[in-house]
Amino acid sequence: MCPFPWILMLFTMFVLCYKGILSAAVGGQARTPPRGLVPGRPVDLTLEAEARGTPVVVACMAKIHDSKVFDSHRLLSPMLRRMARAATEDGREERTYRPGYDGGIWQVDSSDFRQTLDTRTYPHLRPIWNSIAAKFGIHREDLRWKDLRKPLYSSLVAGLRILTVEDEIPPSIPAQAAFWKNYCNSALDKSPNHYVIAAQEVTGCNATGLDLVFVLDGSASVGGENFQLSKDFVNTIIQSFTIGPELTRVGVIQYSFSVNLEIELKDHTSAAPLIEAVEDIEYDKGLFTHTGEALQYITTHSFTVENGAREVAKGVPKVSILLTDGQSGDYHDVTVWSQRARELGVTVFPVGVTNDVDQEELDTMAGPAGKVFRVRRFRDLEEIVTDMEKSLCRAVAAVPVGTPVTADLDKDAVRHLSFVVPHAGMTFKLTLNRGQVAIYGSSLVTTPNGAIHNFTLTSGDVFFPSEPDSSQDALTTVYVSVYGLSDHSSFTLHTTEGNTTTPPSPQLQGAAHSTATSTYKLDPKGITLFWCLFAYLTSTLCSYLI
Ligand SMILES: *[C@@H]1O[C@H](CO)[C@@H](O)[C@H](O)[C@H]1NC(C)=O
Ligand SMILES: *[C@@H]1O[C@H](CO)[C@@H](O)[C@H](O)[C@H]1NC(C)=O
Ligand SMILES: *[C@@H]1O[C@H](CO)[C@@H](O)[C@H](O)[C@H]1NC(C)=O
Repeated sequence: MCPFPWILMLFTMFVLCYKGILSAAVGGQARTPPRGLVPGRPVDLTLEAEARGTPVVVACMAKIHDSKVFDSHRLLSPMLRRMARAATEDGREERTYRPGYDGGIWQVDSSDFRQTLDTRTYPHLRPIWNSIAAKFGIHREDLRWKDLRKPLYSSLVAGLRILTVEDEIPPSIPAQAAFWKNYCNSALDKSPNHYVIAAQEVTGCNATGLDLVFVLDGSASVGGENFQLSKDFVNTIIQSFTIGPELTRVGVIQYSFSVNLEIELKDHTSAAPLIEAVEDIEYDKGLFTHTGEALQYITTHSFTVENGAREVAKGVPKVSILLTDGQSGDYHDVTVWSQRARELGVTVFPVGVTNDVDQEELDTMAGPAGKVFRVRRFRDLEEIVTDMEKSLCRAVAAVPVGTPVTADLDKDAVRHLSFVVPHAGMTFKLTLNRGQVAIYGSSLVTTPNGAIHNFTLTSGDVFFPSEPDSSQDALTTVYVSVYGLSDHSSFTLHTTEGNTTTPPSPQLQGAAHSTATSTYKLDPKGITLFWCLFAYLTSTLCSYLI
């Protein structure tokens, strides 16, 4: 008589039962993993088609940062970060992956994508494509638009797209917003204002704790006005970090013929007096540029515990930003002391100003972990501020295996550590003194997160083997990021050589089993089965009544 509700109910019953039976079958086999230990398979959502969300975008940015493929274009990386937020809310918008449009999180239109492939018209893209092929195994010739559904592909091609534009990326945010609106995502109904808002949303740094020493070039060639611009640059960077004994400590030295100590890492415990002290630094106007001597000074003096650097066991990254306007007068020393600084765990970010600097020398100072910055004039220093801040945020503390790291973290704060994995592999053991943290470890990126990692750890221990193909002299480095999950947490991370994980005791195993059983009993899938039965009976009853 009334078939419609009957059909509807039958359909509902079918769907519910199908889902219920299916998930019950799956659920019956699922085992809760041992507590805290989730080595699992490596996760890399940057290569997973249609992955979404901020961790995925952040992981793409980490890969771009580590690979240095866009390093000759300082404004590009920060711009890409803002674009992802402005275009699709980091891919969270439903329509990001709509049918018929493959531009991905960065929404690269098909015509723009094809332009990036055209290295005849844009020969300056050729070296970048080569470096993308070398770092990521992504080859221009094989690329299709639909590949951009994978987040890393979308991010790289979006960057290349920006580089096909004849105009240079403007430094100011409103101008960038107009630039973005003008040249990207013609199909997107977003206004430049979306970009401006995005820029505000993605600023800031969640990494807490940094020992940062600025090395200012005080040689006569710089000039008084430019020396003032150097000090302004220092104070701009300082203002984006929270200064404090447990947070960021800042020191400053000046060098020319010799080294002048201006500010020790231990001198100031808050921002205002520090900024004032930087303002008060007097320009040496000295002869020569003894860069090697400056590197020797920071290695043997500035970054020592007596002078305010924190112990290795605190897991605080040590970074030095070194400004220079020319070549050193002591290149031999530069090579030697750059190496010593690295051995001490200091990362150097050389900033070469003017075209008189020697790129090779800057590369020597930076080494593999550091990063070279170049600007034409001191006036342009402000253009690298955002990229510098982001790079400082990604700085990692090198910790020897066997030294336990203890630190406090607020919610959302992060600590980046790195370890050289012995041939026998290594074991991480996490002890929580208070609150909760999540640890991600990776041999692939320097700042792993939920979207990219080889292992995760929230309590207990995990064994990390050395890279399967690591030869005698090429040891694996594992990067470990610790994220604070509760308002105040405090943790200790112990590391040992080899596999020293505690095997699960039989008692614990029993407990885990009983937990699994009780979880199964309370499983919502059981409730689904109940509803199936209910729907079946009701629909049968209904069919009689109607
Ligand atoms: C950084 O901190 C903000 C809040 O301070 C938080 O919303 C954001 O998720 C954090 N980012 C990460 C990667 O933890
Ligand atoms: C970590 O995972 C990546 C894949 O994301 C893999 O290439 C690499 O070999 C893994 N590292 C180790 C030490 O297993
Ligand atoms: C590490 O040791 C534990 C306990 O002895 C063992 O259960 C586990 O299989 C080992 N892991 C590896 C990868 O060898």
